[in-house]
Amino acid sequence: MYAQMVDTGQSRLPEPAELSADERAFQARIDADVKIEPRDDMPEAYRRTLIRQIQQHAHSEVVGMLPEGNWITRAPSLQRKATLMAKVQDEAGHGLYLYCAAETLGTSRDRMIDDLHAGRVRYSSIFNYPTLTWADIGTIGWLVDGAAIMNQIPLCRCSFGPYARAMIRVCKEESFHQRQGFDILMTLCRGTAEQKAMAQDALDRWWWPSLMMFGPPDAESVHSAQSARWKIKLLSNDELRQRYVDQTVPQAEYLGLAIPDPKLAWNGERGHYDFGEIDWREFHEVLKGNGPCNHDRIATRIKAWEDGAWVREAAVAHAAKRAARELEAA
Ligand SMILES: [Fe+2]
Ligand SMILES: [Fe+2]
Repeated sequence: MYAQMVDTGQSRLPEPAELSADERAFQARIDADVKIEPRDDMPEAYRRTLIRQIQQHAHSEVVGMLPEGNWITRAPSLQRKATLMAKVQDEAGHGLYLYCAAETLGTSRDRMIDDLHAGRVRYSSIFNYPTLTWADIGTIGWLVDGAAIMNQIPLCRCSFGPYARAMIRVCKEESFHQRQGFDILMTLCRGTAEQKAMAQDALDRWWWPSLMMFGPPDAESVHSAQSARWKIKLLSNDELRQRYVDQTVPQAEYLGLAIPDPKLAWNGERGHYDFGEIDWREFHEVLKGNGPCNHDRIATRIKAWEDGAWVREAAVAHAAKRAARELEAA
């Protein structure tokens, strides 16, 4: 999946004269496109902002497995089942790379998981919507993974080395996810009238939440400036959203599906699609925990964590025994 960045920087950018010599040297490295690596000196606020951003991203990958994992046993053919299973496993891998990248900044897996379970750190709002039909699985691959790619391609160039490198592989896998989703929808749209209606219904439900994945409008996103200066946010929410709309509308036309937005229209002057107003109240309600599946998602993650405790304990016990044996042998 993707990452929905809720910025945590300062709302007013300090002038260069207000920065310390260390901060100015750090900014000069970023401006020169030198990657920042875990052992490098970095401002505490850069470290904290990145831990939060990468952690939100990691949680989104892992929680994002739930709505689709739900359909593995009900996929309509062996091939669809194998493909969906591979996709969901990829998302677990994305979570793993990202948790590891965040750990290089000095946090721990346990602390991040605890933050997720306690609701201190969010994951993408999109995963709080239910997957009601098989067409939802196609639509998630097409729209949600498509939005993820839009968000993540610029992050391949972000200033923090481990995050940028993780994004390169993640983006390759996301493009497979998007294609498998589009392929499901192509099959449905070429099928019976009932199948096509199922695809349209899924698009009707997922379109607006997918636009919300890019976060609040730039005018309200007051914390982005510092993240942009640090090159951990390379394009604004509205820029990304516009690119996503421009890319996705022709794909919907190709499928013969209608985007559920009466205001959607090509604007030749701007060279972009205009689109209707997003219901930000819904977005904020979902972020607050009042989406259709918030409670269920977190309860499922907590149960998985508790059910897996014996595996973690066994691994720690095994490592301790091996260390003791090695000590004895030495
Ligand atoms: Fe994905
Ligand atoms: Fe992913």
